[in-house]
Amino acid sequence: MKFARFTPVVNILSGVVFGSGESWSAKTSWSIENMTGNTLFVLNDFIEGVHMKSSFYLILTVLSLALMMGALPDQLVLAQTEIKLPPPSLTGTMSVEKAILGKKSVRRFSPDALDQSQVAQLLWVANGNLPVDAVAGATYKAIPSAGGLYPLEVFLVTGQETVKGVPAGIYAYEARTHSLKLIAQGDHRMALAHAALSQTWLAGAPAIIVIGGVFSRSTIKYGNRGIQYVFMESGNSNQNLYLQAEALRLKMATVGAFQEAQVSSVLKLQSDVTPLLLVGVGR
Ligand SMILES: Cc1cc2nc3c(=O)[nH]c(=O)nc-3n(C[C@H](O)[C@H](O)[C@H](O)COP(=O)(O)O)c2cc1C
Repeated sequence: MKFARFTPVVNILSGVVFGSGESWSAKTSWSIENMTGNTLFVLNDFIEGVHMKSSFYLILTVLSLALMMGALPDQLVLAQTEIKLPPPSLTGTMSVEKAILGKKSVRRFSPDALDQSQVAQLLWVANGNLPVDAVAGATYKAIPSAGGLYPLEVFLVTGQETVKGVPAGIYAYEARTHSLKLIAQGDHRMALAHAALSQTWLAGAPAIIVIGGVFSRSTIKYGNRGIQYVFMESGNSNQNLYLQAEALRLKMATVGAFQEAQVSSVLKLQSDVTPLLLVGVGR
């Protein structure tokens, strides 16, 4: 009867998981034997208990397997608030010159999902950090920036299974940790396409990378000229994306025509972040 000692725990768990702890308790008949002694719980209907425990563990096992295989719809997966990205590759198979020759804007994408490593690479070239300089202690980024003030912030928008290992959502790219921080769950690509003057082809991109800027980071030093620097720097980031996409044999096109307030609202951007460019990427 040792088994019976764990049944109350399973019972509580069932309440947490299924919200039906009471009905399970009602179905299971207990008696308490030797209440003044060792408080030993005895399960009257041992067979029923074993049966229920088996069902419980079976459900848990099936759920775990489904989670591992990515078979559950995104809504059922507990929100993963941070996704650590695979480290960027520092060697490629295409020369810079060849990438410049080949780069072009393509607006039609295959529905095939992108690999997480491809998206991680693109985010890294758009606003990633280079290894910390051991002597100077400074962190240099993949893009040049006036006064090293780095006013850009980059975001990722994905659909249902459009980027492997990244559930549908809106994410902030955290350069310091090379990871994604969840802003909102769900597929927001069509809302973004509508905010981009209904350029609906954008919603067909498996990944949309958004380049945003925080003007105050530059204007605090350069005044109004800092505003221009932020726009220039978004161009640096965008050109890196074009060249990296070409080197990865991916397709992309940049969108600058959009309603700024609408994009900010769809992406739930903080008030100091201004969206500057939307970049649709796919195969
Ligand atoms: C700042 C900027 C804004 C752009 N905005 C849009 C846009 O809103 N929609 C679009 O389809 N393409 C847009 N493009 C892509 C251009 O149309 C494209 O780069 C141009 O036609 C040259 O073609 P290529 O990139 O294939 O060389 C934009 C490009 C840049 C650099």
